[in-house]
Amino acid sequence: LNKTIILIGGGGHAAVLVELLKALDLRPAGFVDNNAEAIHLQGLPCLGSDEDVLNLDPTKCELVNGVGGSGNTGPRMAVYQRFRKRDFRFVKLVHPSAIVASDALLAEGVQVMAGAILQTGVIVAENTIINTGAIVDHHCRIGAHVHIAPGVVLSGAVTVGDGAHIGTGASIIQGRSIGAGSLVGSGSVVLTDVAPETKVFGVPAIPVARR
Ligand SMILES: CC(C)(COP(=O)(O)OP(=O)(O)OC[C@H]1O[C@@H](n2cnc3c(N)ncnc32)[C@H](O)[C@@H]1OP(=O)(O)O)[C@@H](O)C(=O)NCCC(=O)NCCS
Repeated sequence: LNKTIILIGGGGHAAVLVELLKALDLRPAGFVDNNAEAIHLQGLPCLGSDEDVLNLDPTKCELVNGVGGSGNTGPRMAVYQRFRKRDFRFVKLVHPSAIVASDALLAEGVQVMAGAILQTGVIVAENTIINTGAIVDHHCRIGAHVHIAPGVVLSGAVTVGDGAHIGTGASIIQGRSIGAGSLVGSGSVVLTDVAPETKVFGVPAIPVARR
C-alpha cells in the first residue's frame, strides 16, 4: 500500500472507513463526492467528483469504496464497476479488531469493519461490506457487492447471493441461502431460504414484496 489512497464517497460509511484506515496507519490523500451532502471527513480534502479520479493514472492510486447503503446495494456496486472498468483497483481492508480465520478468503475491495468475526472456511467476494460487529460463521459464502449490516449473525454455511443486503441485527440459521439482490429487514430471523430479488422481514422472516 504505497500508492495514493483515494476515498470514493464522503458520507457516513466513508467516515467510518477513515477511522479504519487510521487504525492501519493509513491516511487517504482525500475523498471525492458527487453529492453536496458530503460530511466533514476529519479534515480530509475534497478532491472533486468521481470524474476527477477517472482522469488520474490508475497505476498510481488505489481506491476505497466509501459508498455504504441501508438497503440498496446498487450505488456501491455502480461505483466499483465504473472504476474497475477503467483499471482502478480497490483496497481490501480489515479492521485490526476484527477476527478473521486464517483460511478465510476475501476478494478485492472487501471491507471488514471493527469487531466483525469471520470463521473458518468463509469466502467473501469482491466489494462486499462485513459491517461493525457482524458474525459470519464457518463456511459461509458471501457474494459480491453484498452488505452485511452491523450486528448481523450468519450461522454456519449460509450462502448470500450477489448484491443482497442483510439488515442490521438480522439472524440467519445454518445452511440457508439468501438469493441475489434480496433484502432482509433489520432484526429479522431467517429460518427458510430466501428467493432472489425478494424482500423479507419479521420473526420468522416472510416475503413482503419483490424488490
Ligand atoms: C425492511 C426495510 C427496508 C423497510 O421496508 P419498507 O418496505 O420500506 O417498510 P416500511 O418502513 O414502509 O414499513 C412497512 C411496515 O413493515 C414494518 N417493518 C418494516 N421493517 C420491518 C422490520 N425490519 N421488521 C419488522 N417489521 C418491519 C413497519 O413497521 C411497517 O408496519 P406497518 O405497516 O404495520 O406500520 C427496513 O425496515 C430495513 O430493515 N432496512 C434495513 C436497514 C439497515 O440494514 N441499515 C443498515 C445501515 S448500515
